[in-house]
Amino acid sequence: MLHAKPGTARLAPVDYPETPIWGYDGSVPGPTIRVPQGARVTRRFLNGLPQGSTVHWHGVRIENAMDGVPELTQPVVEAGDGFLYEFTAPDAGTFWYHPHERTWEQMARGLYGALIVEEPEPPVVDRDEVLLIDDWRLAEDASIHESFGALGDWSHGGRTGNWITVNGKAAWSLQVGRRERLRLRLANVANARIFSLALKDLEGWLVALDGQPVDEVQPVEWLVLAPGQRADLVIDAIGETGSQGVLYSREREGSFVLATFTVEGTARSERLPAPEPLASNAVPTLGSLAGAKRATLHMEGGAMGGMREAKMNGKKIAMRELAQAGKLWALNGEVEMPDEPLFTAERGETVLVRFINDTAWPHGMHLHGHHFRAIGSDRDAGPLRDTLLMDREQTVEIEFVADNPGDWLLHCHTLEHSVSGMKTWFRVS
Ligand code: C2O
Ligand code: CU
Repeated sequence: MLHAKPGTARLAPVDYPETPIWGYDGSVPGPTIRVPQGARVTRRFLNGLPQGSTVHWHGVRIENAMDGVPELTQPVVEAGDGFLYEFTAPDAGTFWYHPHERTWEQMARGLYGALIVEEPEPPVVDRDEVLLIDDWRLAEDASIHESFGALGDWSHGGRTGNWITVNGKAAWSLQVGRRERLRLRLANVANARIFSLALKDLEGWLVALDGQPVDEVQPVEWLVLAPGQRADLVIDAIGETGSQGVLYSREREGSFVLATFTVEGTARSERLPAPEPLASNAVPTLGSLAGAKRATLHMEGGAMGGMREAKMNGKKIAMRELAQAGKLWALNGEVEMPDEPLFTAERGETVLVRFINDTAWPHGMHLHGHHFRAIGSDRDAGPLRDTLLMDREQTVEIEFVADNPGDWLLHCHTLEHSVSGMKTWFRVS
């Protein structure tokens, strides 16, 4: 069972009250679900929230009916009702689950958890840890600030917060042995904050992004994680006994320590060699670009964006009126989920989508049901991803094989952008 319900969490220091949250099984984060690759995941979802909800299994190349998207794949699960989620986890890697109804409120209140799909032959590590990184907006009494739906957030960078946690803790820490090797499964579960991460006194390698192994293992320097994105690191505790290694993030406000690894005792007499690449998952390889189905997604709107009008309910509406209706962003000139899909692909067809970010903001664009590669200017394909961070004013082409039948969402994972216009859908027939 997976029971979404109110609870409390100790997010702030002990001299503050506990924070009333909404969580899966009443806690933040929700339970970590671990399954072997190829296994069935079965969870009866029970909605104990005061409003409708669903569960979306982010990054899983899932059966469409289990994708948890209200407008496309299932009805909203009303308060007090339930829904049986049952699907196969085809790819080994780091995934997560979260609501897909009023996501901008429900995730900000604490609804999320990790879904870990284990490799048949996992890499050699001494420990495997999940780190869900969140950014909360707390009021002075440590309660969740009720400023939901603030148009200033929606038209700018989304609801960024003032309190950063890992697994619901402000100072997440672990005792490790000298030369211990860990796998860290990082996920950015914040509504809007883009984290820029680095390690200190730890040696680390990047082995996977968004649940898919990278082709070449790379040493970690800076790692940018947009909302929704994940990264799997292998790290070694290289410090002497008594020293501390840290995972930190560089924010506009300064540097934040996210996790501390205190070295006590000795785990290994010698360090392990650098990790090998993980075995890749069976994501179909790209067909030829020449025959690809093509689509363009023109992203507009937001503050300082210069969008003057867009279509709402089939009519051209001026920006000011759109804003009054809570619509601030447009995809291909529309601020609502279009009736027609962005494109319809035959099953197995290669698709190339050109994203034009004609806004003054970065956006982490997330595609449901598939992983894709961004194509560089030299036609080099980037790593497989399910969420791609685009810079302001940037144009990127992504390519993937549309092999998963159904209607799939494509949206910005800054949840305030998504609700105020940045979402569309495509069909694989
Ligand atoms: Cu992680 Cu459509 O969402
Ligand atoms: Cu966005």
